[in-house]
Amino acid sequence: MSDLTFGIIKPDAVAANNSGKIIQRVLDSGFKVRGLKMLHLSDKQAEGFYAVHRERPFFRSLVEFMTNGPVVVMALEKENAVTEWRALMGPTNSKEAPAGTLRGDFGTDIERNAVHGSDSKENAAIEVSYFFNRLELV
Ligand code: RTP
Ligand code: MG
Repeated sequence: MSDLTFGIIKPDAVAANNSGKIIQRVLDSGFKVRGLKMLHLSDKQAEGFYAVHRERPFFRSLVEFMTNGPVVVMALEKENAVTEWRALMGPTNSKEAPAGTLRGDFGTDIERNAVHGSDSKENAAIEVSYFFNRLELV
């Protein structure tokens, strides 16, 4: 099996009805979807997920944004999945993300940036298991 990474279609992109288009881009880019579900994060769940950012000035705003509507969480498999998924997403700030990247095409600014992706193999494993149990991964 090649590497796994973890992705989120964030509430801005779900609310704008862009989930289907984003999932199609995932498939067209050669990822295999190993896990997929929609959920509405509680404050506690979002705070736990973003615990590494707890001291950052944008933490409260980020938690508010991520809990403000449903998200789609994904376990994605590909060779070099972490790097490949981050390349497809584009840079954090949607205002600076080129057209053709998910953040460039579907995001708005540095916070409302349409998608999340793990930043390392280690964090990918942690994040996949935060959201999926064994039975939910194919
Ligand atoms: P992500 O974790 O969502 O894949 O994004 P990232 O690695 O590119 O960015 P990171 O530094 O991990 O930040 C996590 C998320 O917090 C929001 N953010 N807001 N207001 C701000 O300055 C700011 N900076 C980051 C974004 O939603 C970012 O994706
Ligand atoms: Mg990050």
